Amino acid sequence: MAGSRVLGTGHYLPPKVVTNFDVMQMMETTNEFIVERTGVHRRRHAEAGVSATDLAVPACEAAVADAGLEMSDIDLLIFNTITPDHADPGSGFFLQARLGVPGIAVMDIKEQCCGLLYGMAIADSFIRTGRARHALVACSEVLSKRIDGSYDGRNIAILLGDGAGAAVVGPCDEPGRGILYTALHADGSNAESLYTAAPGSALGQMQMVTHEDIDAGRVHFRMDGKTVFVNGVARMSEAVVEALDANGLTLDDLDVLIPHQANLRMLEAIIEQIGAPPEKVFINVEDHGNMASACLPIALDQARQQGMVADGSLVLLVGFGSGLVWASALLRM
Ligand SMILES: CC(C)(COP(=O)(O)OP(=O)(O)OC[C@H]1O[C@@H](n2cnc3c(N)ncnc32)[C@H](O)[C@@H]1OP(=O)(O)O)[C@@H](O)C(=O)NCCC(=O)NCCS
Repeated sequence: MAGSRVLGTGHYLPPKVVTNFDVMQMMETTNEFIVERTGVHRRRHAEAGVSATDLAVPACEAAVADAGLEMSDIDLLIFNTITPDHADPGSGFFLQARLGVPGIAVMDIKEQCCGLLYGMAIADSFIRTGRARHALVACSEVLSKRIDGSYDGRNIAILLGDGAGAAVVGPCDEPGRGILYTALHADGSNAESLYTAAPGSALGQMQMVTHEDIDAGRVHFRMDGKTVFVNGVARMSEAVVEALDANGLTLDDLDVLIPHQANLRMLEAIIEQIGAPPEKVFINVEDHGNMASACLPIALDQARQQGMVADGSLVLLVGFGSGLVWASALLRM
């Protein structure tokens, strides 16, 4: 049975750079705290009129062009975001309309920072079984619209950046090339360690959201930072070891490790825990902050543009996000 591979990647970042000193105008925090705890120096924030779909369109166009295809070659669109254009339907439908590919299958997935990895695994399965030929996996976040500078919200607000990335997955007949392995995991028992309560049907009231929910901050991210930090380091480290063991590989065999860019301190802890050579680990969190699902596809595209990932490179992507969800994908480019 033929496999699949990443045929093209693309990304888009909004132009406005927001430094930690700009963030200090939005909430009570300091440059020292942000740099020391997160390693982030700057991130991009979109203008008010920009949606997740607006950011995704140029990323998708770039990925399809990079694959040497036309948009009309795409027959499966998978979209992941935690900053949807509207409450419903899924943003994938709005993106489909903008990309001009009516009639194809569209899936909205909500895997937070693991959107690319779950999306790639779905695309790989669909292509292997002949259900699809060219899948476009897009991840886009306008997290600047979810900044809560209150005492309860600032621990995560300092991390957040905007951006979009996409990958085209298509058939591959070359043995040993392509998407060699994916592993998908989750643990819903810790879902409330990073979540947004409202709007929701589990609020014990007749409405999905009330003025009181807004006033009480239930519409904002609430994060138990320590639980997320500890789990993020443990799960991403385990995911690296699992993927290598399952494929009979060691870190020496890998050309590049691309982890989800949650926080520089988490990445440093993972590097130490697994004993990875730092020069093999792609890191851009200092410049872009945490862009949730957009981190991994943007990192993969930037690593290719910078020459760190080339044709033939063995690349391991690992992700972790709220859910809790974690995953990996091993690619021979
Ligand atoms: C966010 C993070 C840096 C916060 O560090 P922390 O030590 O866990 O922070 P806590 O929320 O426990 O707060 C510790 C202190 O720092 C303060 N603090 C939190 N955020 C702050 C901010 N932005 N600026 C200044 N002080 C802040 C708190 O108020 C608290 O002070 P207090 O003890 O006087 O009340 C850290 O938890 C972390 O990196 N977690 C993982 C985050 C992550 O990667 N999330 C994305 C997952 S994909």
